[in-house]
Amino acid sequence: MHEFDSIIGYDAIKQELMQISDALKNADAYTQLGVQPPRGLMLYGEPGVGKSMMAAALIEAGGRKAFTCRKDKPDGEFVGQITATFEAAKAAAPSIVFLDDMDKFANGDKKHPDAEEYVTVQSCIDGCKGADVFVLATVNNIDNLPDSLCRAGRFDRIIEVRNPSGEDAEKIIAHYIAGKKFVGDIDARTVARLMDGHSCAELETLINEAGLYAGYERSPEITMDHFMKAILHTVFDVPNEEITAFGRGGNERQDFVQVAYHEAGHAVVSEVLEPGSVTMVSAFAQDGENRGFTRCWTDNRVRAMDRMEHRIIRALGGAAASEQVFGCFDPGCARDLDQAFNVVWRLVTDNCTCGFHLHNNGRDSEDLRARQEQAAAAEVERYYRKAKEILTQNRDLLEGIAQGLMRKGILTAEDIAAIRKDCGKAA
Ligand SMILES: Nc1ncnc2c1ncn2[C@@H]1O[C@H](COP(=O)(O)OP(=O)(O)OP(=O)(O)O)[C@@H](O)[C@H]1O
Ligand SMILES: [Mg+2]
Repeated sequence: MHEFDSIIGYDAIKQELMQISDALKNADAYTQLGVQPPRGLMLYGEPGVGKSMMAAALIEAGGRKAFTCRKDKPDGEFVGQITATFEAAKAAAPSIVFLDDMDKFANGDKKHPDAEEYVTVQSCIDGCKGADVFVLATVNNIDNLPDSLCRAGRFDRIIEVRNPSGEDAEKIIAHYIAGKKFVGDIDARTVARLMDGHSCAELETLINEAGLYAGYERSPEITMDHFMKAILHTVFDVPNEEITAFGRGGNERQDFVQVAYHEAGHAVVSEVLEPGSVTMVSAFAQDGENRGFTRCWTDNRVRAMDRMEHRIIRALGGAAASEQVFGCFDPGCARDLDQAFNVVWRLVTDNCTCGFHLHNNGRDSEDLRARQEQAAAAEVERYYRKAKEILTQNRDLLEGIAQGLMRKGILTAEDIAAIRKDCGKAA
C-alpha cells in the first residue's frame, strides 16, 4: 500500500505531496541540477479536511526522521519547546519539523504578527538555512499568521485544503460506507450532495451516526433511512423526537400541512428550473423553528446568471405555493423574501439588469437608492409571478410532493424522482 492511499480523493494535492516526498527522499537528484528542493510546506484549511492526515502521509513517504511540535504547554514553556524541536531536527538532518496547528501557537483567535511564538518559529526556520531540515505546518486560519512567516523561502509551498465536494465527497463516503459490514440501499452521490460543504471528518462521523441509528433499531443493515436520520440530527439540528417519528407519517396538523405545501413549492420550482436538483425536502422543523427546509444542488454547468435567477424564483416558490393553495400570504416566508431581495439587489445594483442608470459606481445618493429600491421591488414581483406560473403548470407535482411530505415528513432525491415519474415528468 502506498503512503498516500489512505487519503481519499484530493488527487491534485496528493500529486504535489508525492513530488515533495520525492524531493525529500532523493534530494541529490535535485541538487545535482542546481535546484534547491522545497524547504517548507504549509497546508491550511477548515478543521477536519485532512491536513494532519496528509502531513502524516508525507512524513511517512519522505522517509526522514520527523520532530513534531504541537501546542500543549503554557506560553512560556512552549517557546522553549519550539526551539528545542528545531535544534533536535537540525542535529538529525536530513529531517522534518512538523508544526501541527501552527496558528494555535499564539493565544487567541486574532492576528498576532508579533507573538513570541511566531517570531521564534521564524528565527528557527532561518537558523536552519544550510541544514537539510524540511518544515511542514498545518494551519486553520492562515490570516492569523504574520505575512513574513508565510513568504517563500520559509514556506515555499502553501496549499489550501478545502472541504470535499462532488466526486471527492462521493469517494470519501463510498470509502467509509465500504468499511461498514451491512449496508443497504445507500447512494453515495445522494449523501454527498446532501453533505456538500462539510468536512471529511464530518462525513466520516455521519456514516457512523447512521450506523448508530441502525444499531439502536436492531436493524440488520444500515439503510438510507438511517442516513437521513443522521443527517437530520447532525446537520440540520432536528430534535430527536421529530426524527423518531420519521417514516410513520400521517401528520395532519394544519401547520404541518402548510409547511408541506410551502416546501413543496420550493421543490417544484427547483425541479422545473433544474431537473434533479432537489436533494432533500423536509417538513420537519430545523433549529427548533416552525418551518421545514429544502436543499438543492446546482450543477456548475448552469450559467451563473441563470443560477442567480433560479435562486430567486426558488426562494419565492414557498410563498407562491401558500398563496395558490391556501389563498393567503405565508407568515413563514420572511427569510425566503430576504434571500430573494438580497440576490435581486445584487443583480440590480451590481449587474445592472434593469439598466446602467441604477449602478452604484461609488455614488451614494438618496435619489439613486430610492430608484434602486423601486426597481428591485418590481423585479421581485416579476420573479414571484414566474414562481406562480411554474406552480400552476405543475400543480400535480406540487400535490405529489406535498402529499409525500405529509406522509413521510421528509423526501430524498429518489422520492422526488419517483413522484416526478408518477406525474409523467421524469427528469
Ligand atoms: N481525504 C480523506 N480521506 C479519508 N478520510 C479523511 C480524509 N480527510 C480526513 N479524513 C478523516 O477525517 C479525520 C480528520 O482529519 P484531520 O485530523 O487530518 O483533519 P485536520 O484538517 O487536520 O483538522 P484540524 O484542523 O481540526 O486539525 C481523519 O482522521 C480521517 O479519518
Ligand atoms: Mg489537524
